[in-house]
Amino acid sequence: MNPRQLFLSHIAQTTPNPLGIEVERAEGVYLYGPDGKEYMDMISGISVSNVGHCHPQIVQAIQEQSAKFMHLMVYGEYVYSPQTKLAEALLEVLPPSLDNFYFTNSGTEATEGAFKLAKRYTGRAEIISCFQSYHGSTAGALSAMGDETYQTAFRPLVPGHSHIRFNEVEDIAKITEHTAAVIIELISAEKGVIIGDYNYFQLLRKRCTEVGCLLIFDEIQTGCGRTGTMFAFEQYDVIPDILLIGKGFGGGMPIAAFIASHSVMKTLSFDPILGHISTYGGNAVCCAAALACLRVLKEKGFILEVESKGLYLHQAMERIGFSKIRRKGLLLAVDLDSQEKNFKLIDQCIQNGIITDWFLFNTQSMRICPPLTISYEEIDKFIRKMEEVKLNF
Ligand SMILES: Cc1ncc(COP(=O)(O)O)c(C=O)c1O
Repeated sequence: MNPRQLFLSHIAQTTPNPLGIEVERAEGVYLYGPDGKEYMDMISGISVSNVGHCHPQIVQAIQEQSAKFMHLMVYGEYVYSPQTKLAEALLEVLPPSLDNFYFTNSGTEATEGAFKLAKRYTGRAEIISCFQSYHGSTAGALSAMGDETYQTAFRPLVPGHSHIRFNEVEDIAKITEHTAAVIIELISAEKGVIIGDYNYFQLLRKRCTEVGCLLIFDEIQTGCGRTGTMFAFEQYDVIPDILLIGKGFGGGMPIAAFIASHSVMKTLSFDPILGHISTYGGNAVCCAAALACLRVLKEKGFILEVESKGLYLHQAMERIGFSKIRRKGLLLAVDLDSQEKNFKLIDQCIQNGIITDWFLFNTQSMRICPPLTISYEEIDKFIRKMEEVKLNF
């Protein structure tokens, strides 16, 4: 069997018609097929490759760490340097109250860990999230999703989940003394980049503090420079009780985290002990990669450039006729008239060597979130290719 036949017959698929793009190597914003075909990755493997594919500093960190050791012991027992150095580097970019890190394998595991932590800390059962919000695919995260299309087939879900509307001030009253936590993104990414209102987040923070529940910000997609600051919450003057990071955090390696204060996090260590355990969480090679990635993100001017590049891309898209765009930094949603048009456009983009995508809860909008390392020349090249597609559309 050739690779495509093996893929179609033996690799689990989650759509009836997978894209099936064959990739042999990747560098910067580019993916290359076995035949040398070049694609511009304008979605960063869905907001993962923020510092580009195969960043040399990350590759080097992985090589060096893997030659020393890879895995030692399940979570939180041994002291080792890629993990402690990563914690030290994170402390420098976070407010003092977010000083304790639980490293996980994936974003959804960070979500689950945060739910458990909130229940354990508050002694309450209710988790509130927004309708049509994506926090992962495991049972708890799926229960928080608030979308019948994706939930119905998997019932019964985890009890205790309630939902509110994103950005709707009146729904904040549904948060009460029974609520353990509210989980929310500052920019609802999978609804098609719906930007949170500054005032809404002030009120949300106030309410959570009043009723004594924990506020969880899911920055798995919006974090690590994507929106023009290291974390999107910096633009809202609010600090969560628990922060979730993932995707771009690992520079391409599977690592995420739920982050809280030491006093909150320590409740996972007693009554019962081993409140959350994970064999590979905080894996040394993944931590080394994340540390290297964080160092790149922290380089002088790196994140400052994100907004300028985002604006440049936004304006160029408008110039070639895409007028309905929502954007924060280098996270863009471009509205088309219909799902049909959007899917057709995305398909033709791929034929022309540019990879874009749609959103889970908004199939009428096109996702554009390139590596933050994209140059202005590469943005120009993308726009030229987009224009060619548009001419034949
Ligand atoms: C906002 C958000 N939270 C959580 C997740 C889940 O992360 P993972 O796919 O690593 O489990 C995602 C993934 O798309 C996400 O976008």
